[in-house]
Amino acid sequence: MEVQFNRVTKRFGDRDALKDLSFSMASGEMAFLTGHSGAGKSTLLRLLLCLDRPTSGELVVGGRAVNAISNRKIAHYRRDFGVVFQDHQLLFDRSVFNNVALPLEIAGFSQRDIDRRVRAALDKVGLLDREKALPESLSGGEQQRVGIARAVVARPKILIADEPTGNLDPQLSAEIMGLFTAFNSVGVTVIVASHDLALISRMSQRILTLKNGQLITRGESQADTP
Ligand SMILES: Nc1ncnc2c1ncn2[C@@H]1O[C@H](COP(=O)(O)OP(=O)(O)OP(=O)(O)O)[C@@H](O)[C@H]1O
Ligand SMILES: [Mg+2]
Repeated sequence: MEVQFNRVTKRFGDRDALKDLSFSMASGEMAFLTGHSGAGKSTLLRLLLCLDRPTSGELVVGGRAVNAISNRKIAHYRRDFGVVFQDHQLLFDRSVFNNVALPLEIAGFSQRDIDRRVRAALDKVGLLDREKALPESLSGGEQQRVGIARAVVARPKILIADEPTGNLDPQLSAEIMGLFTAFNSVGVTVIVASHDLALISRMSQRILTLKNGQLITRGESQADTP
């Protein structure tokens, strides 16, 4: 699904968290979003998820004008997204399998489809043999992979991650980023916010750099060439 920000500003009080921001991403493209603490990365992702609304400017996602989506329709809009947080937000009284199954249960999938899809998602993140484990018995990297499996289990069109490697060592971080590129290679649009420049500059993906709410590099997009 393609993403377009047109002159988007988000103001909190008298400060612009995002200032006149424009960029686009083609469907199936991947980009890293980087910049200093407070640069506006999470704010940008929250606008994209419609967790917050811009002060001015417009977002177009998959051909839909996001500003025009009513509060009632936001849940429907978000179905196209998979989201990974830094602190993965797993439920510690549920097994790995049941954590990953949660979005499918909410969406009303049959038990047969849930079994099939959860195992496929756990297989992709290399955790098929841990499905019965409780999250607390897993390492930090494994917990983060469960969070990723849960984000992709409903086959989102866009995968968004906000500092998904924040608590991980360099090798695990590289493995997690590798998982995101693997999902991108099968056609999912992927945006990953990360301040780990050393890591993301070693990868070949596009890098969007924010500084004080403004984009100072935006890389090349397939969407820019008609
Ligand atoms: N709900 C809010 N109310 C007021 N100010 C906010 C709010 N959310 C974000 N801000 C401000 O907007 C700016 C951008 O914040 P944001 O969380 O997007 O930064 P970030 O790039 O994600 O930083 P970090 O790397 O620390 O996560 C900051 O100055 C922050 O204080
Ligand atoms: Mg942030």
